[in-house]
Amino acid sequence: MIQVSKKYGKLRGMRDLLPEDVAKLNYVKSMVRKLFQLYGYKEILTPTLELFSLLAAKSGKDIRQRMYVFTDLGGRRVALRPEMTAPVARFYINNMTSYPKPLRLGYIVNCFRYDEPQYGRYREFWQGGFELIGSKEPESDVEILEIADSLLKRLGFSNHYIKINHIGVIRELLEYEGISEDDQNRIFTLLDKGKLMDALNLLKELGASSRFMETAKSLFSLKGFNYNEILIEVEKLLIDYEDALTAFENFKQILDLSEKCGLTGRLFVDFSFARGLEYYTGMIFEAYAPPVRVALGGGGRYDKLIELFGGEPTPAVGYSPGLDRIVLAMDELKIPFKQEWYARVFVIPVNEKVKSEAVEIAYKLRSFDISAELEVMNRSLKRALSYASNMKFTHAIIVGEKELLKGEIVLRNLERNVQYVVTLEEAIRLLREKL
Ligand code: HAM
Repeated sequence: MIQVSKKYGKLRGMRDLLPEDVAKLNYVKSMVRKLFQLYGYKEILTPTLELFSLLAAKSGKDIRQRMYVFTDLGGRRVALRPEMTAPVARFYINNMTSYPKPLRLGYIVNCFRYDEPQYGRYREFWQGGFELIGSKEPESDVEILEIADSLLKRLGFSNHYIKINHIGVIRELLEYEGISEDDQNRIFTLLDKGKLMDALNLLKELGASSRFMETAKSLFSLKGFNYNEILIEVEKLLIDYEDALTAFENFKQILDLSEKCGLTGRLFVDFSFARGLEYYTGMIFEAYAPPVRVALGGGGRYDKLIELFGGEPTPAVGYSPGLDRIVLAMDELKIPFKQEWYARVFVIPVNEKVKSEAVEIAYKLRSFDISAELEVMNRSLKRALSYASNMKFTHAIIVGEKELLKGEIVLRNLERNVQYVVTLEEAIRLLREKL
């Protein structure tokens, strides 16, 4: 490898993606786009840069502190987007409020977070996204969960699961105990990091009654795939908390409906699960595929965000799969990236005299939608053929003087090591048959 001087080296946490890496990422992106089509999500794009204040409003402490922020030449405080839900809420208010509801918007974008580089954590990464705007019904929550599951299934995952909770239940409980929204978010940040004891200690510090502490402790310990039993326990715990019970009812409806769309056995209910982002108001979830420990995607319901940014009160729910992590997990679980076969032809002129014919043949192949690359290194036929096999071309077309006199070329199948002398028209017909 050639050493690039440190002065011009790659930034820490940033990645160069090789052609094979991009091919894998594109494969996952193409599956996300397939789901846009299947579920009716219209793809949009927003600017990479937004006002820091917009991105920071409800992103949560962690992300807020890890944004790439700077002042532009016009003196505005701007940042590279760390995620897309806030930009999509702004986009909706600026462009689409008059459209009939619901709106189903999709995106595939790069995001930036100054995270500590580690396994599955990069400073620039790719997110897909599905945002369903305008419906508060549990069917829409379930649609988003179904999409999260379906993407992984279609890519070939089989042992994945979705960790799920309803932050509305917990918020209502904390509200009842007089805990401010800011303090609620401090508790969720601790829970998000798995610091259950610290979260309970903070609750105590904030003056929660001992009865409430008991309820919280019991509630946070309830988790499992067998959620019907868990829900009975939770209902008992919430008996005196009317608003929390209303949110709980919504959670039960979502879980009930999820059985209708292939999610049975895939949902791991965990009442101590929280997410760092602060805009969630209802169901929240993350997708996992053991033994890969990092989340492959996350989402939830955010009914107040659009209103916070100045729009009409508009409920919404969404999901963002982490595309780099999905690639990482597929590699780790040895799930094949199914590439469609297509003919890739290497056109080789045997000498100087037939170069112009070779240029013309490559041009003609492409005009028939056949992928063709021309030998441009002046190699001997033998070396050009060995290059073509190494580079996994499916065919070579050898352009020789003798054959040209009869209007023919040599079509060599590099996968089967057989060759035929045929006219170019015949070669095109044979290659197109495989398309
Ligand atoms: P998030 O959980 O912060 O949610 O990110 C979604 C996914 O992006 C994560 O589960 C992970 O796969 C991937 N991801 C996050 N940070 C990194 C990183 N540093 N390196 C590699 N991958 C990463 C959101 O961003 C919300 N906007 C999701 C949402 C959509 N909620 C509602 N709608």
